[in-house]
Amino acid sequence: MSTHGSLDPHAVLTVVDRRIFGGFVEHLGRHIYDGIHEPGHPSAGPDGFRRDVVDLVRELGVSTIRYPGGNFVSGYRWEDGVGPREERPRRLDLAWHSTETNEVGLHEFSDWLELVGSDLMLAVNLGTRGTQEALDLLEYANLDADTAWTRKRAEHGRPEPLGVRMWCLGNEMDGPWQLGHRNADDYGKLASRTAKAMRMMQPDLELVVCGSSGSGMPTFGSWERTVLEHTFEDVDFISCHSYYQERGGDAQEFLASGVDMARFIESVVAIADSVAATKRSDKRIMISFDEWNVWYLFDENGEQDDKPEEAGWPVAPRLLEDRYHALDAVVFGDLLITLLQHSDRVRSASLAQLVNVIAPIMTEPGGPAWRQTTFFPFSITSRLTGEQIVRVPLDGATVTSSRFGEIPAVNAVATVGEQGTSVFVVNRSVDEAATLRLDVSALIAEFGRDPRIVESHLLHDDDMYAANTLDDPERVGVGPLEDAVIRDGILEVPLPAVSWAALLLA
Ligand code: AHR
Repeated sequence: MSTHGSLDPHAVLTVVDRRIFGGFVEHLGRHIYDGIHEPGHPSAGPDGFRRDVVDLVRELGVSTIRYPGGNFVSGYRWEDGVGPREERPRRLDLAWHSTETNEVGLHEFSDWLELVGSDLMLAVNLGTRGTQEALDLLEYANLDADTAWTRKRAEHGRPEPLGVRMWCLGNEMDGPWQLGHRNADDYGKLASRTAKAMRMMQPDLELVVCGSSGSGMPTFGSWERTVLEHTFEDVDFISCHSYYQERGGDAQEFLASGVDMARFIESVVAIADSVAATKRSDKRIMISFDEWNVWYLFDENGEQDDKPEEAGWPVAPRLLEDRYHALDAVVFGDLLITLLQHSDRVRSASLAQLVNVIAPIMTEPGGPAWRQTTFFPFSITSRLTGEQIVRVPLDGATVTSSRFGEIPAVNAVATVGEQGTSVFVVNRSVDEAATLRLDVSALIAEFGRDPRIVESHLLHDDDMYAANTLDDPERVGVGPLEDAVIRDGILEVPLPAVSWAALLLA
């Protein structure tokens, strides 16, 4: 199979917003406890945070991290997680049928963010709580004033405000599983009231209103329209969430997940802009794709597999500990390409999640931490993405998706910047190799000489179901693209079936 196109470094789509490489940490399963925080672990510092995990999160290259949920936030009392640890209450976590010890809260998590070098994005509870509690949290976290809440913050060890800019107005409020689930009208009114009140305290916040928890939701589309009709003037972003998994052994269909994500984004943009048109407004609502990943949520019987196996209300049970194989990582790489291709409107995104829970990083209590297959496309894309995004229109081979018909077999995006020009590319075919031929002669003028391949990475495994495990943590990795060449201004990249690759030209 062959695919060809050309790379024009001046055909810039947008300047990159690094928040597209965001992550998400939820109080869920072994994410916080026995994941990032394990006081007895040999690598833990005096604060209880595992330094081996800190190093891997830094290597992953995540910008902003959304916290503390997720479904968890819709029943969370943030005050439980501040103040002396010995006085913090243990609470039921209804979302994940667990016990929350509150050993880690806002202060500890902020300290951890300093270690990993990421920024905080906070979600407020609009499930069991409302506007007043959101205001209290904002005042506690951000205000530079002398009030009861800011005095408490100082007493708890943080005289200086945390300065959190991005705030989510609840989580997945369209989902019947959500504590405090509401219809679009009721949620839209609550979100508008809360956003207005928060801006009275701090006008320059960036606010995210909940969109649909997936494009397959029965209310998808009408939810976005109604919610934005209520909140258009009050918010900056609408959220999208989407998880993908192979179903019924149909790997080819799974490899078309990027097409689904692209349509989802384009639909939400169309709805947001149509609301803008009815309001005669030039304002453009951006997308915060604040949950995306591969997640084997449904078992082979189509049942949701997301509750602890233990009886009762366990602390930090093993939940959502998906093991990712090479195929998952290729789909994942394509999802990242898709986000970059739409980054003129997707200005923020959060990989859900980071450690142990549907995560690129796994840990064992008292034992090692290791990289899942999905770690590689994220860390490499984050590191090699330059300052500007360039679309790479391609022509050529197609594969057949039962949902979308003929779709491009090869999908790519490029970035330009100080370190050079980066190309990210995926072969979505389940059984055929492909060659990408990209005319890069326009780079000769940029570099004042022929471009050279200075870095290349290929993620592919002859066994597409091979994974990294505790026993074999380096089974799948990335290697160089041995046969990629630039000849007569044409970059030739041979791509095995089911593969993802990245190149840096300089
Ligand atoms: O990321 C896991 C869960 O998926 C989140 O808690 C929720 O928002 C979504 O349904």
